[in-house]
Amino acid sequence: MEATADVVVNASRLCFVDPFGMALLGATFHTIRNQGRSVQICGLSAEMGGYLERMDVFEGIELVDCAPMPMQRHNRGDSLVELTRLGARRDVDEASFRLAHAVVGHIPGINPDEPPDEMTGYTAFERLVEPVQYALNELLENALTHAKGHGFPDACVWVASQYYPRKGMIQLAVVDDGCGFLASLRNHPALRRESHIDAIFTALMPRISCNRDLGLSSESVNQGVGLTTTFRIAEQAGGRLVIASGDAIHDTVGRSYQLTEDNFWQGVAVAMECRRDRLPDIRFRDLLPPLDAQPVRRLRFE
Ligand SMILES: Nc1ncnc2c1ncn2[C@@H]1O[C@H](COP(=O)(O)OP(=O)(O)O)[C@@H](O)[C@H]1O
Ligand SMILES: [Mg+2]
Repeated sequence: MEATADVVVNASRLCFVDPFGMALLGATFHTIRNQGRSVQICGLSAEMGGYLERMDVFEGIELVDCAPMPMQRHNRGDSLVELTRLGARRDVDEASFRLAHAVVGHIPGINPDEPPDEMTGYTAFERLVEPVQYALNELLENALTHAKGHGFPDACVWVASQYYPRKGMIQLAVVDDGCGFLASLRNHPALRRESHIDAIFTALMPRISCNRDLGLSSESVNQGVGLTTTFRIAEQAGGRLVIASGDAIHDTVGRSYQLTEDNFWQGVAVAMECRRDRLPDIRFRDLLPPLDAQPVRRLRFE
């Protein structure tokens, strides 16, 4: 990222990439190409090349000495979603609907085409999709609103997902190249220290929003509960969030640390992992912070 010349990536030791890695790679390649520099990848195995090409990671990238193994493009809509770049809020609903349906896929005993429940109007399948769709919607909205502030109006967001049948895990990645948590929350009174790791922790707290002066609205947008609820959904489904921003990385079930040397992510990168078979256990509406936890607002009559 720092260099000014064209980039040649030696990928000969690459043997595994998950959606998080793919979204980070895709965003990085995009930035480099936008600076008018070219990207070449060499030494990639045919199998890795086939998979990454199948996932659309190589837009505008030159592969050197690699003949990607052809992979079938069809019939995978129930287990993966190719790397997709979004730039505008109007694309969010459609993308989160498509991604959520893809990752929920086929759960044994649940028929996506069953008629809806007479009273609620929802099918069992839709109730499973709902929490994943909510999480995606929140992460994408954040990336296309907050991330565009503080001098990053052209920020984009990359999403990708994959279902891993052996572990039964879903991984979703939402990566933006915007201002990052610290720039967004720098003046928030809840931020204890001006560091990227503290900014990640602060953003995860319920009712923390950079738009705290906008008042209450019926939408969850700008109520400061999006990230908190997304984390609770992952946790209830036996999973976690991994969040990187600036020089910090936080794993909600593992270590949080500052990245060393020059490692830095300009923006916010979130991976959400959960067990697909635990989605039916999620009591989605119970996870939203209660409405009475909203801050008291003083009424002024002058
Ligand atoms: N992608 C992002 N880029 C920059 N800042 C972000 C991003 N996502 C979240 N934030 C920061 O974290 C805060 C909390 O996010 P969230 O819980 O979704 O609440 P809300 O979006 O309602 O403000 C946001 O107000 C914003 O300051
Ligand atoms: Mg939000």
